Amino acid sequence: MNILLASSEAVPFAKTGGLADVCGTLPHALAELGHRVGVIIPAYRAIWCLGKPIRPLGLEFIVPVGSKMVSGQLLECPGDVPGVTYYFVRQDYYYDRDELYTVHGQDYADNCERFVFFCRAVMEAVRLLDFRPDVLHANDWQTGLVPVYRRTLYAHAPEFQRTACVITVHNMAFQGDFWHWDMLLTGLDWSYFNWQQMEFYGKLNFLKCGFVFADAINTVSPRYAQEIQTPQFGCGLDGVLRSRSDVLRGILNGVDYNVWNPATDTSIARNYDEGSVREGKAECKRALQAEAGLPVEDRTPLVGIVSRLTYQKGSDLIVSVLPQWLTRENVQWVILGRGDPTMEQQLLELAQAYPQRLCVRLDHSEALARRIQAGADLFLMPSRFEPCGLTQLQALKYGTVPVVREVGGLADTITDFSPESLADGSANGFRFAGEDGESLSAALRRACEIYRDADTWYRLVRNGMTQDWSWRRTAPQYEALYRETLARLYPDAVRP
Ligand code: ADP
Ligand code: GLC
Repeated sequence: MNILLASSEAVPFAKTGGLADVCGTLPHALAELGHRVGVIIPAYRAIWCLGKPIRPLGLEFIVPVGSKMVSGQLLECPGDVPGVTYYFVRQDYYYDRDELYTVHGQDYADNCERFVFFCRAVMEAVRLLDFRPDVLHANDWQTGLVPVYRRTLYAHAPEFQRTACVITVHNMAFQGDFWHWDMLLTGLDWSYFNWQQMEFYGKLNFLKCGFVFADAINTVSPRYAQEIQTPQFGCGLDGVLRSRSDVLRGILNGVDYNVWNPATDTSIARNYDEGSVREGKAECKRALQAEAGLPVEDRTPLVGIVSRLTYQKGSDLIVSVLPQWLTRENVQWVILGRGDPTMEQQLLELAQAYPQRLCVRLDHSEALARRIQAGADLFLMPSRFEPCGLTQLQALKYGTVPVVREVGGLADTITDFSPESLADGSANGFRFAGEDGESLSAALRRACEIYRDADTWYRLVRNGMTQDWSWRRTAPQYEALYRETLARLYPDAVRP
């Protein structure tokens, strides 16, 4: 099959979170299954920093965006894996900026216009490129109008007559909600602005648009696929999702072990695998303690956190329990992340007060993220909701035991420690249910107790390291979803 993933970010070119990891690594796994995969993203300023051979294709287009006519150019760069090609939509006024979505913490005022244009550009790219997708796969709100255009302005374009359109939602909390007058930017008739199609409580809602018009809907874990059909997790769109539950799936994200692997990672103090994990992690832990300015102590449990500092990730719960932990327990903490300014400030103050126990880095650094994954004993993720989560999967591969709230993808990937689950090889971490600091602390205390028994601990560590959380496990489910959707839409077509 030919598959075109449309996304607002993809590694290695542009990343603010897991969406980029997924859109940059799932294509490799699909290509390895024999498909041709294109990934199309905006040509942000950041894409040029890597020195990759990005070249213009000589393909240009002009589309209306509201009352303006806006031109764009298509660029191309071969992926690192044969069969994968990156395409970029160049429109410097929209995308040649410092950040992807925000300036000084505020959304760019023209985000709606930027992504209306991007969605139109994706449609134009399909017409212009020498790459005819069987599947057009949109991701998150920024591409939510792609399925709409496919069924409206481009419904009769010959290039789309045998195409299926799938949308994956990576996070229901971000919907691309804009005031109703932005409907004018889309070039679509006001008749679509009704509660069953593009309108949501008086606003234009990109994600809802995607859900209504796509041929299939998907999210990034089976548990989240169930959760988002309930008012608690649906962020208002649970009714829309329930009405389309026949085409809604949950496919777990995978990690690319070519990229996240302690045996080959060049950022960490020493490489190791499950056979050499004890010595390997011990050395990485000493290096991390030294880097973080913490006492170098082999047997003191070290908790790592790599996260956006947000309500979703439960960062406020961490802030609420930290004072107790820092004053009473001989446990060390290294926290890497950026986010809510209040939480950032609270964490900094705690780090200043307890420099022997807590190191906080308000930064985005992949190298440090890797050193934390390698050097920490425990990885804490008390998310309030978590569509999938990649960091707990990275932690498992690095032999760092996750302590998680049992929600979404965390519930699908982390099996709580018990003598039975340890014996049958499924135990790989610690889980708790409550949405409060005490539940978090209780799970962390349980983990610290088991940590003291090194033999049991390393059995738990090895369980996690030997489980397969790569795309090898779940990319075939995407293949099946694409095939099923095509077969449903075009039962008579003959396909490879
Ligand atoms: P989300 O997309 O909700 O933020 P995920 O767990 O799916 O959460 O993915 C987060 C990705 O971003 C992971 O690859 C993680 O390693 C990376 N990451 C998060 N925060 C940082 C940071 N401060 N520095 C470097 N990488 C980070
Ligand atoms: C979102 C979610 C995260 C998920 C990622 C990739 O950012 O918050 O749970 O892993 O998307 O799908």
